[in-house]
Amino acid sequence: MTLRQTLLAGAVLTFAAAGSVSAAELNIACGTVGKGQQLCKEAVAEWEEKTGHTVNVISVPTSTNDQLALYQQILGSGSSDIDVFEVDVIWPGILGSHLLDLSPYTNGAEKDHFPAIIENNTYKGKLVAMPSYTDAGLLYYRKDLLEKYGEDKPATWQELTSTAQKIQDAEREAGNEKMWGFVFQAKAYEGLTCDAIEWVDSFNGGSIVSAEGDITINNPQAAEALTMAASWVGTIAPEGVLNYQEEDSRGVFQSGNAVFMRNWPYAWALSQSDDSPIKGKVGVMALPKGGEEGKQTGALGGWQLAVSKYTESPDAAADLVMWLTRKEEQKRRAIEGSYNPTISSLYTDEEILAATPFIGQLQDTFTNAVARPSRATGANYNKVSNAFYNAVHEVLSGKKDAATSLEDLERDLKRIKRRSW
Ligand code: GLC
Repeated sequence: MTLRQTLLAGAVLTFAAAGSVSAAELNIACGTVGKGQQLCKEAVAEWEEKTGHTVNVISVPTSTNDQLALYQQILGSGSSDIDVFEVDVIWPGILGSHLLDLSPYTNGAEKDHFPAIIENNTYKGKLVAMPSYTDAGLLYYRKDLLEKYGEDKPATWQELTSTAQKIQDAEREAGNEKMWGFVFQAKAYEGLTCDAIEWVDSFNGGSIVSAEGDITINNPQAAEALTMAASWVGTIAPEGVLNYQEEDSRGVFQSGNAVFMRNWPYAWALSQSDDSPIKGKVGVMALPKGGEEGKQTGALGGWQLAVSKYTESPDAAADLVMWLTRKEEQKRRAIEGSYNPTISSLYTDEEILAATPFIGQLQDTFTNAVARPSRATGANYNKVSNAFYNAVHEVLSGKKDAATSLEDLERDLKRIKRRSW
């Protein structure tokens, strides 16, 4: 090799090294249920193309509890294994101290999002996550079956119970042995906290712990709500519901074997896909009231994107978050995956409303959704929810009556709270 060749080769190497320093390699964990991961991968690929950075999309467990445990372990050890990840609406108070302040990177974009979500994502004055989509519990129903049996959409849970029973019986009589009246999420996990807070709130029984931090769950309306839900297990819902997460209930409903389903907005896009046996047969409405005096409600859910404080590439990671949460991407996700935007101006977007009509029709459900007490209980929220869903699960599985279980729960929550959360 001549001297000139050696010098040239050295220059190329130096250039390559410089290139690899500026081109980051990131790991993102995204997409849990429905089309989430596919949509994330597509948007990430566009960003890679645009920026020259490389991103590995990591699969995560489907349950929010398992994800939280994983992130607590990774972040707790200060590891940089994951740069960007999705954050459940209930986590900012739990994980906030491990997340990067995104304010320097937003260019004011947070002003376009619902203020309540931005407030939720603000931890000790820092914007630790950008909203990606919002969620509220909804009731899915089979339009064709209600019509076939001359039944109205249920205004109360009591009506839902009798309509579900009637159609289930009639369909089984007609040879559809697998038909169930109602499927929901009753495994002992965070999803049950969502379902159960809806039952309780619909009976005006509050939200476990009030915004002021008072433990309110041990009340007669809450007991009535849980007693009602327990009556469904093994009658209009399969015993197996005690082990169902979102995707288990969707599996039953989407294969045509349930009249009603409680689920989040994402289930809509899948129910309308070309290979869905129930395409065109599904309606979506707000969850029923807990009796005439009750109210329509839905649990507030939703996901954000955040950057780990321990990332080696904060600028690239924050840029990716801004890309994935921007308006165009939220619109694409709403149309293709029925993920509800967090940007208010998208709620009048014609293309979104055509693809996912309930986004416009159920505005009240989305704006009045009942929040789990994650703000009031802060870092203790996970313990509170854990105690709640276990107490509810004991009622649903017939191990305890509702009044006793709520009394025990109140005692457990007091122990967790001590003098303050
Ligand atoms: C949905 C909600 C999330 C909730 C979870 C429970 O993903 O968006 O907030 O914690 O369901 O399973």
